[in-house]
Amino acid sequence: MVESGPIVVLTGAGISRESGLHTFRDADGIWATVRIEDVATPEAFARDPARVQAFYDARRRGLLDPAIQPNAAHRALARLEAEWPAPVLLVTQNIDDLHERAGSRAPLHMHGEILKARCLACRAVSPAPGDLAPGPACPGCGRGPLRPHVVWFGEMPLEMDRIEAALDACALFVSIGTSGNVYPAAGFVELALAAGARTVELNLERSLGAARFDEGRYGPASVVVPAFVDELLAGLE
Ligand code: APR
Repeated sequence: MVESGPIVVLTGAGISRESGLHTFRDADGIWATVRIEDVATPEAFARDPARVQAFYDARRRGLLDPAIQPNAAHRALARLEAEWPAPVLLVTQNIDDLHERAGSRAPLHMHGEILKARCLACRAVSPAPGDLAPGPACPGCGRGPLRPHVVWFGEMPLEMDRIEAALDACALFVSIGTSGNVYPAAGFVELALAAGARTVELNLERSLGAARFDEGRYGPASVVVPAFVDELLAGLE
């Protein structure tokens, strides 16, 4: 089928794995070494802010290691955005900035961004290039302590109105490198199907929701994503 309509792409931790960042639920994933309820909930932050800050400070330092660079999958999606004749909305669950570094214009970070901080007093979001612990004060109001600008379990993901509007209008939905464990992202395929879109999963293995996709291509993101993007762009010719 030759398509040229609007596309929504959802990415998860699997797309950044070959760049050297850990996923969450694989055998060597982040949630195998630390418990969600100790570091990724508002209650954890209220109970032990230093522990939560240390967890994200370490991940931020890891992301800024010069060895961590975007891979061929991130670059292929930037190319799709640049060359596709209709809107392409790139939605990511990832808090890294590898899509931006690969040239994507405005990826929508539904779970926030680790290189940003949010003020607990005025709620302003500011750049966070370094550790938040011990906390610098908010550069805006000068009063508040800062928390990582990430969405914790129990909090609302960001930009849901824009994402749902794009899913309602898309012709193709592509889910990449996500296990399908976390809602609402895991439910996007249903919204795309309801809109009549073609749905494709690109992942190392079948995700929890694999049966709900029209098609799946399985392998490392650095291989299957560029191949799928090439196929889409060749269909335009
Ligand atoms: N290429 C493609 N897919 C891969 C690769 C790879 N090289 N390596 C791993 N994967 C796949 C895994 O098979 C798995 O299905 O990526 C998926 C990663 O799943 P998760 O670790 O659950 O990550 P994700 O789906 O992004 O998690 C969602 O959970 O805790 C949170 O907030 C966090 O945004 C995250 C959310």
